[in-house]
Amino acid sequence: MTLSLRLGVNIDHVATVRNARGGAHPDPVAAALAAIEAGADGITAHIREDRRHIRDEDMWRLRAEISVPLNMEMAATPEMVAMACALRPHAACLVPERRAELTTEGGLDAAGQAESLRPAVDQLLAAGIRVSLFIDPSPRQLEAAANLRAPVVELHTGRYAEGVAGELERLAEAARLAHRLGVECHAGHGLTYANVGQVAALSEIAELNIGHFLVGQAIFDGLPATVRKMKSLMIQARAG
Ligand code: PXP
Repeated sequence: MTLSLRLGVNIDHVATVRNARGGAHPDPVAAALAAIEAGADGITAHIREDRRHIRDEDMWRLRAEISVPLNMEMAATPEMVAMACALRPHAACLVPERRAELTTEGGLDAAGQAESLRPAVDQLLAAGIRVSLFIDPSPRQLEAAANLRAPVVELHTGRYAEGVAGELERLAEAARLAHRLGVECHAGHGLTYANVGQVAALSEIAELNIGHFLVGQAIFDGLPATVRKMKSLMIQARAG
């Protein structure tokens, strides 16, 4: 059982705003530093094939400048695996990627694509990177992740965030199964002040990764206050 719960702040959409004007402001690395100062336990950045938000130089600057674990979200492509092996972030979270999607719409099919994922997982583990697989909360996907020897899974909370009936129970069961399989359990996608509590209360979950809501809410309250409030909601929910 995990007693502490970490907050990973995803800073992709700071880069989205920066890229809208092509300059350097707002700087995602400065946002990461502000989030850390406010209590973020880790920083997540998704470098996509099309570089629509985070760019290569952002990853290298994050690696050099932040003092907390860096989680590189990435597709399991040879290009990205090579970059991760050179960059050596603390963790790499493998996600499915489709060019036309607005965000990561579903989990990886770790069960159906185990053999194509295996070389990427093995290469990243051999480079000393903690591999996480972003999967839907299903027993089949969890067992496949464990068979691939991924030390971490991240459960996709998108359907829960959309209010789909039964999703909280699926997340709870998946978190318990991850614990039984000896796989560290993270969760994320679509989490907000309003819905974070029930997920944070699941004691087998060690980390929540949250991005879009935090960056959006920061427009009203500022990033440090937003990160502080999210973290305190998580801690309160975990404490019961
Ligand atoms: N975790 C993963 C693996 C993701 O792909 C994303 C979205 O980039 C998140 C967490 C964060 O989701 P959101 O931006 O909706 O908080």
